[in-house]
Amino acid sequence: MTLVEPTDHPGRVQGALMAVDHPDLRDKVAVVTGAGRGMGARFAAALARRGVHVVGADIDGTLMDEAASALRLENGDVTGAGEVVGTVVDVRDRDAQQAVAQTAVDRFGRVDLWINNAGIFPEAPVADISPAQMQATLSINVEGVLYGAQAAASVMAPGGSIVNMASVAAVRVRRGRAAYCSSKAAVAHLTECLAVELGDQGIRVNAIAPGFVDTEMTRWVQDDPPALAKALDAIPLHRLGSPEEIVGPMLFLLSDSARYVTGHILAVDGGSRHV
Ligand SMILES: NC(=O)c1ccc[n+]([C@@H]2O[C@H](COP(=O)([O-])OP(=O)(O)OC[C@H]3O[C@@H](n4cnc5c(N)ncnc54)[C@H](O)[C@@H]3O)[C@@H](O)[C@H]2O)c1
Repeated sequence: MTLVEPTDHPGRVQGALMAVDHPDLRDKVAVVTGAGRGMGARFAAALARRGVHVVGADIDGTLMDEAASALRLENGDVTGAGEVVGTVVDVRDRDAQQAVAQTAVDRFGRVDLWINNAGIFPEAPVADISPAQMQATLSINVEGVLYGAQAAASVMAPGGSIVNMASVAAVRVRRGRAAYCSSKAAVAHLTECLAVELGDQGIRVNAIAPGFVDTEMTRWVQDDPPALAKALDAIPLHRLGSPEEIVGPMLFLLSDSARYVTGHILAVDGGSRHV
């Protein structure tokens, strides 16, 4: 299968011609949190295109509805594409995440794959981080992953696969982002903890640690030429990643191609964790 992906990135991102296929994903059922935009929406699209039924869940219901409609249109002429259903969730709410799992079971009969993707990226120098900001960051970025994994594990059969979104910021300091960096370090280690305990159920848990990816979350750096130049200088491949370049590694970790891989944090960062 050859897939031509969007190439309209303004010269900083390699528009990707992806030839990635994971036939073992067909007819599986996936939940993707934070699927209203950005990488979550691209994960949902890529899965549905490969015949996976997807429940996308986002705190922004309007965004999620629009994304789900757009994905249905996008895959309209793909034979065997999976269905995409949008629902609202605040990942901080454990019961709400459980309800998302139930929605997937009610609609599609089971859950095989779960991507804990929702996250926030607040900015403040250390001296100014407020308790509310720190609590929101840890609650969404870390508790959200834990509650997602709990919900997934409560309905998954052996062979299930969970992937969390960590970040290069888990291992590299980003000035003004202490709340975010510490939350993503927690996600990375939580991934290892989950892998050990959920391994008892035959469920794999891995994480992807992206570097700078071209989404709304990194608009601030893309719209600030000096900051962008500095950022690109510190990336060995000297460009941002595109969301599509995170899709391939995501499909790998979700699929049986990675069936003996668990507790792994896969850096997809143009090498930036080394500098
Ligand atoms: N963009 C990057 O460069 C980058 C780099 C490393 C890691 N990440 C991580 O990847 C993930 C996706 O990033 P992105 O760039 O696509 O972000 P994005 O901001 O474009 O999208 C995040 C989505 O999560 C949703 N969301 C936020 N809070 C939520 C909540 N409480 N409950 C449910 N949904 C919620 C938002 O509405 C949004 O649709 C995040 O976890 C982010 O930290 C991003």
